[in-house]
Amino acid sequence: MSTAVTSAAKVPEPIATFTATFIIRRFDPEVDEEPRWQDFDVEMRATDRILDALHKIKWEQDGSLTFRRSCAHGVCGSDAMRINGKNRLACKTLIKDLDISKPIYVEAIKGLPLEKDLIVDMEPFFDSFRSVNPFLMVAGPTKDGKERVQSPVERARFDDTTKCILCAACTSSCPVFWTDGQYFGPAAIVNAHRFIFDSRDEGAKVRLDILNDKEGVWRCRTTFNCTDACPRGIQVTQAIAEVKMAILRGKP
Ligand code: SF4
Ligand code: FES
Repeated sequence: MSTAVTSAAKVPEPIATFTATFIIRRFDPEVDEEPRWQDFDVEMRATDRILDALHKIKWEQDGSLTFRRSCAHGVCGSDAMRINGKNRLACKTLIKDLDISKPIYVEAIKGLPLEKDLIVDMEPFFDSFRSVNPFLMVAGPTKDGKERVQSPVERARFDDTTKCILCAACTSSCPVFWTDGQYFGPAAIVNAHRFIFDSRDEGAKVRLDILNDKEGVWRCRTTFNCTDACPRGIQVTQAIAEVKMAILRGKP
């Protein structure tokens, strides 16, 4: 009879913790006349995300800290904010990718009305999105009553712009949008692109007419802020350029 000798399970090394300082732009419309900056020291690990820091502050230090989040995994698009001056998703920004020898600044995205702390009113953003008809437009059923077929090549034509999660990181990083709240903004154009270049769609002309407006694609100054800000890696500036070309040619 053999006796099993089991080696002791290896205990993983504890992950080192350290104190990081967060300076958060706060605004409570019931109390503050102007936004103000507030410091918080938080015990963190390098593998934590900015969203974890915000949770720790809210749950352990100041329950009034207000921010949006839902999925916590880069899918719902609800936690875009400015982190050290750059638009990012809090749930996709790791502490180890920031310089923790300095304070980490966190504030609401720009260009949309500030409601409270890190929350802005997203309605103007969604109004622009809705105005480009972000849905499949067709005159009626197909002749044979079957589905609308599409080749892999046709599907690939607009694949990049299907990835948008409507986080507003692009639109709220655009200097034109900051100065002119009427501009449709990159996200609306990205979502128009998604249907304009879809071979099954029949509403391209309608959308191109909407975007061929003084507040449409021609306001874009090709600064690439939008492309740099997009957490989904969408080539936003390229999509805008393709919509401009489609307007000039009169077709996708
Ligand atoms: S294009 Fe990118 S940055 Fe803009 S709303 Fe969509 S996911 Fe967010
Ligand atoms: S919480 Fe959903 S994208 Fe960050």
